[in-house]
Amino acid sequence: MESHIIIFDTTLRDGEQSPGSTMNLKEKILLARQLERLGVDVIEAGFPAASVGDFESVKAIASEVKKATICGLSRALETDILRTWEAIKEAKHPRIHTFIATSEVHMKYKLKMSEDEVFDRAVAMVKYARSLCEEVEFSAEDASRTEIKFLARIVEGVIDAGAKIVNIPDTVGYTTPNEMYKIIDYLKQNVSNIDKAIISVHCHNDLGMAVSNSLSAVLAGARQIECTINGIGERAGNAALEEIIMALKTRKDYYQFDTQVVSEEISKSSKLLTTITGISVQPNKAIVGANAFSHEAGIHQHGVLANKSTYEIMSPESIGLKSNTMVLGKHSGRHSFVKHLKDLGFNLSNEKTDEAFVKFKELADKKKKVYDRDIIAIAMEEAVKSPETFNLKSFAINTGTVVSSTATIALESEGKIYEEVAIGDGPIDASYNAIKKIMSVEAELLEYKINAVTEGMDAQGEAMVKVKSNDKIYRGHGLSTDIIKSSIEAYLVAMNRIIEK
Ligand code: KIV
Ligand code: ZN
Repeated sequence: MESHIIIFDTTLRDGEQSPGSTMNLKEKILLARQLERLGVDVIEAGFPAASVGDFESVKAIASEVKKATICGLSRALETDILRTWEAIKEAKHPRIHTFIATSEVHMKYKLKMSEDEVFDRAVAMVKYARSLCEEVEFSAEDASRTEIKFLARIVEGVIDAGAKIVNIPDTVGYTTPNEMYKIIDYLKQNVSNIDKAIISVHCHNDLGMAVSNSLSAVLAGARQIECTINGIGERAGNAALEEIIMALKTRKDYYQFDTQVVSEEISKSSKLLTTITGISVQPNKAIVGANAFSHEAGIHQHGVLANKSTYEIMSPESIGLKSNTMVLGKHSGRHSFVKHLKDLGFNLSNEKTDEAFVKFKELADKKKKVYDRDIIAIAMEEAVKSPETFNLKSFAINTGTVVSSTATIALESEGKIYEEVAIGDGPIDASYNAIKKIMSVEAELLEYKINAVTEGMDAQGEAMVKVKSNDKIYRGHGLSTDIIKSSIEAYLVAMNRIIEK
């Protein structure tokens, strides 16, 4: 369909590649299921040749997801391509994505290859990928800084070799909307076989223009956009999926394109990703920021009360924000809790559902209203919990202005209880010191934040931590009505990630 834009989500690959966004297998599967509900056409599930963990998660996602195409990334190397194929071949719709850099600076300093060598490699690897898989995508890395005639030559060559999708990445976020339009237009005018492939774009956000550049490319003839939830990704990130979707939807009068994304799943997807990675979005972030739909100025509030369209170009409901509706309360039974879990995409075992239900009841006793966000947090905790990780059993803290803060922490792992006491500069520091003693892990706390998730005195406190261990960054996220507990849990998530690694 000419007016259909293919949405290619790379949260699990380019997004996951960014510092501190590492996800484990269970988290990746949860997110993949949510991406499928969101209705993206393609899920780039990872880079199978990068590590055994990546391979396993791409393979698991390939057998889990039924509707979306599952794509795996590979360098233009036979070994990478074969590894990718091994990981995705069970998918209902598999796609191999292979890439090589085409800009002068990359070819000269990184690849140490000539134009002809890069051309020959690209063509040969696309042919090889096609011998394994029906659908092959080729990316000319750093395309926006590639000499345009060479870009056209290589695009023509890979289409002849069987690539069905040709991707034009703005790898370093350098181009502008006008320039991007011209690149795509040039390819449309000068590549003889361009109508045999779909043109795709993949824009990074270094100059804050990733979304504009992607939309310009679409106006020039691109029909696939590569993007990530919350715009996560290398450095300043990738084009944000939610911004692309809502721009196409809200300005349909201008763009006149459709996607099959269910925009009402956007808010949930964004929150799930935040919960998994511990990376929150800035409050004024378009579409999914906490303030994106709140009107502070009196004059705006007055206008919105008189008629929403005065200051509201899209409704909160269109991204699935249920304007503070209570979703469950303390009288909700197991049946409605389980149904709600399923609606949110969680498929927990009976045992885990029981544990989640007990936690929900405890929370509902403390809080009058329980929101989606609260339920996601409970379900996430159960879904990703595994016997090998350290889980919080209990804590006791003594603190004040006239005593040193002392924390006694008990953790459980593989059925055993480990307990330690430590002092520190305040209750959080003391707890973290006790956890470090138990887990025997060296880690430096780089960042610690706490926010209220919803409004009201009984709101849950959401703690986010960032720690460094062996030069790698790990994040953790914890949620509880008790802010000490959420702080401890956030730290435990990050420390468990270090151990897993
Ligand atoms: O930014 C980039 O160029 C990429 C490619 C591998 C598509 O991520
Ligand atoms: Zn990228």
